[in-house]
Amino acid sequence: MKTAICYFSATGNSYDIACRLQKKMSDADLFNIADMRIRDLNDYVKIGIVCPVYWLGPPNIVKRFIHRLRRFKDKYYFAILTFARMPYSAEYLLQLEFQKAGLDLHYHYCLKMPESYFVGFMPTPQKNQQFLFAKADEAVDHTYPDIAAALILETPKSLLNMIEKAQKRHEKLAAVLPQFAQKYDVHKNCNGCGICARVCPVNNIEIKEHLPVFGDQCEGCMACFHRCPQNAIHYGKKTLRKGQYINPTIDIAQLDKQRLTEPVDSND
Ligand SMILES: Cc1cc2nc3c(=O)[nH]c(=O)nc-3n(C[C@H](O)[C@H](O)[C@H](O)COP(=O)(O)O)c2cc1C
Ligand code: SF4
Ligand code: SF4
Repeated sequence: MKTAICYFSATGNSYDIACRLQKKMSDADLFNIADMRIRDLNDYVKIGIVCPVYWLGPPNIVKRFIHRLRRFKDKYYFAILTFARMPYSAEYLLQLEFQKAGLDLHYHYCLKMPESYFVGFMPTPQKNQQFLFAKADEAVDHTYPDIAAALILETPKSLLNMIEKAQKRHEKLAAVLPQFAQKYDVHKNCNGCGICARVCPVNNIEIKEHLPVFGDQCEGCMACFHRCPQNAIHYGKKTLRKGQYINPTIDIAQLDKQRLTEPVDSND
């Protein structure tokens, strides 16, 4: 029973959970949604997604990924969403994306991790981070047997109305995410190192004349902000004096490999 764990992660929280889950399973392989080929999933019986919640729902890149899965009708699908404050109904909105692709999301779980959205919120204090990482271990211990047993969760009918409303709210917010990076300022201490361009999961940054230039295909993931060694990328005044966040329990360099080998939307 081979399992594919497909992750999308900007600051490492979702990658951390994907790794923890993989360690529990004897038969699981990891794939980075940002640069994988769909045909590599042919032989997997179970396919899981581990990704963050962005603005009350799943990231846009993950929605496009689910659409590309539509050829695999007979797999067992599961998802773990990481969030920092409230997942709202993100797991059900993910389920809706599966339905749109003619698929079922059989199992889902939401897991609290440190904050990455520094535009709107303060960083999670260090001691709270340690608490969350310890809790994450417990959560993976809890979900792993469910996934191993291919548990199927039913969506309570009483939630359908609420899910429809949440979907409308999320769609409005997610529609402006591609322009998110246009609001970044690059401060004078930028040294043109190009790391921001290298870590952007969707190649939305070009270095021109030693400065990053942001395109309009942004995921809003904030990887460029958090990974800049100079802390030179800011979102107006909203991110000033907040520092940066990278999940300390993983090797973040693993995410540097996020280069699109082929377009995210390709029908490979
Ligand atoms: C653009 C953006 C939007 C976010 N929206 C939410 C949200 O609606 N609710 C929430 O609880 N956390 C939200 N977060 C926080 C992330 O979901 C959380 O920190 C997640 O664990 C980050 O995962 P990663 O490290 O794998 O990128 C948001 C983060 C970003 C960057
Ligand atoms: S990572 Fe920071 S210092 Fe390097 S090019 Fe980008 S903005 Fe400039
Ligand atoms: S430009 Fe920055 S925020 Fe936008 S997708 Fe790339 S790394 Fe993420």
